[in-house]
Amino acid sequence: MQYLEVKTQSHSYKIVVGREIFEKSLSDILTDSSNDRLFLLADENLFHHHGEQLLKSLQHFSGDVRHMLVPQGESSKSVKFWESSVNFLLTNGVRRNTPLIVAGGGVTGDLGGFAAASVLRGIPIIHIPTTVLAMVDSSIGGKTGINHSTGKNLIGAFYQPKAVIADTRFLTSLPRREWINGLSEILKYGAISDAEIFNEASIFLSADYLSTDREKLISLIFKCMKIKADIVAADEFESGIRAFLNFGHTFAHALEKACNYDSISHGEAVYLGMLAAQKLSRLSGSSLTGDFLEAYRPLYQFRVQPAEVSRDDIYSFMFQDKKRTDEHLKFVLLDEWQSPAVKTVTNKEYIKDAIELMIHQLKQSQPGKS
Ligand SMILES: NC(=O)c1ccc[n+]([C@@H]2O[C@H](COP(=O)([O-])OP(=O)(O)OC[C@H]3O[C@@H](n4cnc5c(N)ncnc54)[C@H](O)[C@@H]3O)[C@@H](O)[C@H]2O)c1
Repeated sequence: MQYLEVKTQSHSYKIVVGREIFEKSLSDILTDSSNDRLFLLADENLFHHHGEQLLKSLQHFSGDVRHMLVPQGESSKSVKFWESSVNFLLTNGVRRNTPLIVAGGGVTGDLGGFAAASVLRGIPIIHIPTTVLAMVDSSIGGKTGINHSTGKNLIGAFYQPKAVIADTRFLTSLPRREWINGLSEILKYGAISDAEIFNEASIFLSADYLSTDREKLISLIFKCMKIKADIVAADEFESGIRAFLNFGHTFAHALEKACNYDSISHGEAVYLGMLAAQKLSRLSGSSLTGDFLEAYRPLYQFRVQPAEVSRDDIYSFMFQDKKRTDEHLKFVLLDEWQSPAVKTVTNKEYIKDAIELMIHQLKQSQPGKS
């Protein structure tokens, strides 16, 4: 088991990663008398595989465990499901010190985080991330939220958890595609912070990575968590370096929107977005050499029909990004590998060329193309 402390201005909390650590870690956290009742919000697919075990473990801590399932998919990050979550808590007698345990990927975590932030003006939340992406990224840092018809994550709050427990036992049921989604965020840490990660992520290249070397996987996840925790500690509310975590994401969000958040996943879009950001960095004058992302390209199998997306649509969607503050687009670019910087790019053609590269990659994924 490995752990670290995230120290933010508003709150410090522990993050733990390891295998079969769920009960032990919870027993270190649930020590007071507030546990006469426990609430669990769980992703439906996770619950299908591990629900019985989860409930049994929680019953060690309280004889009264109430749970609600969150349907899989981005559409659960909605006002409707936020309202259902809040109803679930309030009609079951939640109190200000009752912990909400949220188990699932980034969707359940973002939804549960926002419900915890808003019910009774804030109840304690314990994140149990169960996807690779949620372990290395979304469960850390306190960004919570739901989507609105005008865009993703437009309603939300910064709300730090009481603890994060990442038990790799839950990954045993994770579909292959979700592992690859998480890989994109892992590679992002390689690009912006630690070159070693490009080597360590090569466990994903092995044919049998689902039963990959556990220690290597845990240490890779821990390394990524630590990078995110350090960045969040230095810049909790994203007024500076936290923006580096958005490397590739301006392109990715616009591509996801162009695909109606349907035919491409967030992680797939982030991978292509990083390729585009790498290209834009070079077009904008960076002397970036080498292509450390390329080795992982065969792992991605895109399902988007290239005709579905147009360069100009993707370009215009970038202007709807909530992080945009003025008339020009800002991007996280690389001066060198592991040397990110936020830059305003005024040359539209450079941006469109970078978008073109994403579309070219989608074309390469079509049947019959190598
Ligand atoms: N808050 C943040 O800082 C932050 C950062 C990055 C991404 N996000 C958000 O995270 C979301 C994406 O998260 P995600 O990739 O984890 O997706 P997800 O939550 O949709 O989970 C992916 C799929 O895996 C299933 N699943 C989850 N755990 C499982 C398990 N152990 N076994 C079997 N199936 C399991 C889910 O049902 C779902 O079908 C997006 O909404 C994104 O906006 C938030």
